[in-house]
Amino acid sequence: MKHAPRPNPYRDHWCGHLTAPLAGTEARVSGWVHRRRDHGGLIFIDLRDRSGLVQLVFHPDTSGAAFAQAEQLRSEHVVSAYGEVVVREEGNQNPNMVTGRIELAVTRMDVLSRSETPPFPIDEETPGLDETLRLKHRALDLRRERMQETMVLRHRIIKAMRDVLDQQDFLEIETPILTRATPEGARDFLVPSRLQPGNWYALPQSPQLFKQLLMMAGYERYFQIARCFRDEDLRGFRQPEFTQLDLEMSFVEEEDVIGVMEEVMEAVFALGDFPAPPPPWRRMGYDEALLRFGSDKPDTRFGLEITELSGALAGSEFKVFQSVLDSGGVVRGLNAGAHEMSRKELDGLQDVAKRAGGKALAYAFVEEGGAWRSPIAKFFSEEQLAAANAALEASPGDLLFFSSDKAAVAANVLGSLRLELAERFGLVPEGEHDVLWIVDWPMFEETDAGELTAIHHPFTAPTGSFDEPRALRSRAYDLVLDGTEIGGGSIRIHTPEVQQQVFDVLGLKAEEAQERFGFLLDAMRYGAPPHGGIAMGIDRIVAILSGRDSIRDVIAFPKTASGGDPLTGAPAPVEAETLRELGVVSVVEPSAG
Ligand code: AMO
Ligand code: AMP
Repeated sequence: MKHAPRPNPYRDHWCGHLTAPLAGTEARVSGWVHRRRDHGGLIFIDLRDRSGLVQLVFHPDTSGAAFAQAEQLRSEHVVSAYGEVVVREEGNQNPNMVTGRIELAVTRMDVLSRSETPPFPIDEETPGLDETLRLKHRALDLRRERMQETMVLRHRIIKAMRDVLDQQDFLEIETPILTRATPEGARDFLVPSRLQPGNWYALPQSPQLFKQLLMMAGYERYFQIARCFRDEDLRGFRQPEFTQLDLEMSFVEEEDVIGVMEEVMEAVFALGDFPAPPPPWRRMGYDEALLRFGSDKPDTRFGLEITELSGALAGSEFKVFQSVLDSGGVVRGLNAGAHEMSRKELDGLQDVAKRAGGKALAYAFVEEGGAWRSPIAKFFSEEQLAAANAALEASPGDLLFFSSDKAAVAANVLGSLRLELAERFGLVPEGEHDVLWIVDWPMFEETDAGELTAIHHPFTAPTGSFDEPRALRSRAYDLVLDGTEIGGGSIRIHTPEVQQQVFDVLGLKAEEAQERFGFLLDAMRYGAPPHGGIAMGIDRIVAILSGRDSIRDVIAFPKTASGGDPLTGAPAPVEAETLRELGVVSVVEPSAG
């Protein structure tokens, strides 16, 4: 707290600001009863406001009526207390508390409101506390110290972003929440229109199209702390509504956007006292990331890199590998190092491979002389084993894993295995962080149905020739922190011709494109500057900086994994009459949530 409160009947000081220099003066503070202790006729209360704690002391002789009131106080009652700031006796001072040298000897107290017994303790971290209970009583949960610290950090991070961008002439401009579908690849949340029955707004998956329009409008440098809405499955670091630092710049190339974002993120890391390496951050090509780490968001804090073995193990007797190789697939491997693993553990890892879309995982223990102890050893010649061992830098005692599949699947299998093994073996060094840009992305990828979709979004500028759409690359870049994608962006298409070429590849005909994105294409016809931008996932950044495993812990009022909010009960059924007004008929009974 930077400013003292304006003195009023409730308080003239913050609790956490009562320190020894104030001894001998009188003060009034307000807050919540954090803890209460009875000590041989004296009553001690730790009183809490946002600034911290201060100890109140009630004497039977000098506190008057306040002493009797203090006997009735319970955790989380709200009081205003008045008295003299006194230095505590030598042995009673608490050097771990900012206000630990003094206490407030209370002579008057107003009990402003009472609290029922809270459903969980506020004055301590309770490991394993049920999250639904926390979310249901979020006002209590948010009182807890760690939650408050996280909310403060979140505020500071967002402020640092604003400050750096303001310094750099960026304008903060709001864009609509009720709008049309934006193509970030997730499902839209829809809102029925009452005034135009039968028509629907979509909530924006990002401000992508509006920020491009702002560039066409000549605003040069835009940013926004933007709420985005995506109706997708909520695994991992995802929420259906989340917050981006969204920005866009005109007349720029990759280096300009990357440079600005490095400056913003350096300020953010400095704030959280977060020991990330300083920028410029290294760049890694998408292909290299997939080959070496099996992921487009590689965790580069540990080794266990993936090795291409298609050459070394080609022409073997092992039908599984050979048929994959014959059909254009790969064999790749990973040296897990000198580890024993039981049959059961090895079988467990098959599930990791299957979850990653693979069929199976093969393994081998390297013996003296380079032979393999493995169900598949018998299929390979000595030369093949030697070549594979050399590529994997294998020594006796090492445990090797292999995946044979289409390149993308093998990458994903070994990439997932890598993360699983790092977790099991405790390979991520405590307190170490790594940041890198992933660049040189392919423009399109193939869906399971064999169609092409844009890896980023269809407004990303491609490089290469449209004669071979599958070979097109894109001018996209992602920022990865400790194996999490914390941001992504690109240089955009700025001519209607190229934009239509991309739509053509995506199977979006000119009329359909005009129908869905006509407003953008129209604006492009009236002089669009070359432009590009990026969006950062603020929730993810705050979570990593505050050492949280869940982004729900860095959002004041988040949703659970099933998209619900135990606090308000949203989503909830609505009256039939309300639906009728909106011109909507529900074809299902409301689910139990
Ligand atoms: P993208 O879809 O990559 O890009 O989103 C940018 C960043 O937002 C974060 N993020 C999420 N965080 C929490 N919950 C989610 N469901 C979620 N989805 C994404 C990630 C991600 O890196 N319009 C483009 C940006 C651009 O091209 O400028 C976009 O939205 O950290
Ligand atoms: P199988 O011939 O199916 O009994 O498989 C023999 C060994 O090869 C087993 O250890 C399997 O786990 C492994 N294996 C099968 N398919 C693959 C694959 N696509 N990639 C890696 N290992 C595999």
